[in-house]
Amino acid sequence: MNKIILDTKNSKGIINKNIYGHFSEHLGRCIYQGLYVGEDSQIPNKNGMRTDVVEALKKIQVPLLRWPGGCFADEYHWQDGIGPKEERKRMVNTNWGGVVEDNSFGTHEFLELCEQIGCEPYINANVGSGTVREMAEWVEYLNSEGDSSVVKQRWKNGRKEAFNVKYWGVGNESWGCGGNMRPEYYADEYRRYQTYCRNYGPNRLFRIACGPNGDDYNWTEVLMKQAGGYMDGLSLHHYTVCGDKWEDKRAATGFNLEEYYRTVVHSTKMEELVTRHGQIMDRYDPEKRVGMVVDEWGNWFDVEPGTNPGFLYQQNTMRDAMVAAINLNIFNKHCDRVVMANIAQTVNVLQAVILTEGDQMVLTPTYHVFDLYKAHQNAREVDCQVQCGKAGVEGFEMDQLTASASEKDGKITLTVANISADQSAETVVCIRENEVESVTGRILQGNMGDYNDFGKTVVEVKEFTGFEVMECGRVKVELPACCVAELTVCLKK
Ligand code: AHR
Repeated sequence: MNKIILDTKNSKGIINKNIYGHFSEHLGRCIYQGLYVGEDSQIPNKNGMRTDVVEALKKIQVPLLRWPGGCFADEYHWQDGIGPKEERKRMVNTNWGGVVEDNSFGTHEFLELCEQIGCEPYINANVGSGTVREMAEWVEYLNSEGDSSVVKQRWKNGRKEAFNVKYWGVGNESWGCGGNMRPEYYADEYRRYQTYCRNYGPNRLFRIACGPNGDDYNWTEVLMKQAGGYMDGLSLHHYTVCGDKWEDKRAATGFNLEEYYRTVVHSTKMEELVTRHGQIMDRYDPEKRVGMVVDEWGNWFDVEPGTNPGFLYQQNTMRDAMVAAINLNIFNKHCDRVVMANIAQTVNVLQAVILTEGDQMVLTPTYHVFDLYKAHQNAREVDCQVQCGKAGVEGFEMDQLTASASEKDGKITLTVANISADQSAETVVCIRENEVESVTGRILQGNMGDYNDFGKTVVEVKEFTGFEVMECGRVKVELPACCVAELTVCLKK
């Protein structure tokens, strides 16, 4: 019998709600058509933002949105995206598909989108092809109340009060598309750029330095040593691919059992990355003042046949739901260091929570995982030990169950995924020194390859009743194969 043991006396602290953050880049159909259709569109919108998508994002309580990239960020010049739309500069998006970017979605539109969703903005500024002055003036434009020419420009563009944007990324993937820098060089550049990103009024900036590519531990070492004292966050990017090499991504749908387990097992690499980068950070920052910011994560598969290879459009199956559950459980359990994570990307790109086609919208299995996990936001993490068997095929095996737990408002939330594609898991949940009074549940369950398509919903969150509160105060749960479940537990007083 599998066992999940919760200990409410043992906690790593509060699960920062920003772990449930998202990422939206000027890439493919994420911004244009996905989030923004323009004021004149036939598709229902408010000031150009798609009403259906905004409503769906509100439902999962998106706390934070990162923009404008990604690689695009280091070619983006914010001045091109403000003022009258017909006068905005047109550019070619050289990173993503070579399409024309007309800058109709710029700074004001992004902040309006965040306001509509009810989330915090996180702006990733340009180091690769930008200037210190450009970045400094972007911060000033958004956050200052002073009577300067830069601020007057904001007034002219319709906004009197400061936006008070707190989260700022200083370059993106500066080791790659953001300038191909060496860590020693970037550390100095980071120190210089962040110096001129000023705090205005009571707003305190949260400055995020570009962190490593996956397991580049030397990058973290150098950054923490040379610039750790100047940053509030250090980013980490890691994508899961199905094959053994980065180039071997494979299809998002129609995969076989071995490819299913390859992918979910590969995604557990995040545990090692967070742990080992965290150990390096611990040496330079034992107080854990600097947060780890996993601001790009998720599955990266081949694009859907017939779509622009530069648009990174992929379908999303129950396999993606498993990977989302695995990663979010890892972040919850490391909430003493991980303060933010941003799945890549919100709409129509990579492991998207939403897909759109014209006026239609699909909520992917990954979307439903974010729905099941939303109670963890700003809750107190609860120690969660799992004792279970293995699932997988030869060479690609892992624990059958992955789980995390938290408590808020007198209730405990346990989220658990049964990774097995075909075996249910009988499991006892016990809460140390406590007896369970009552439980409610919700579940997402399907076959490993199930996905939702336009006009065809196959998997969605349903009420879950496959459990029983035993006389001893424990809970017996029958977790079906390939499922993600949320159990909300009330304890006896
Ligand atoms: O999310 C797609 C791309 O992946 C981002 O632009 C870049 O930062 C990363 O390499």
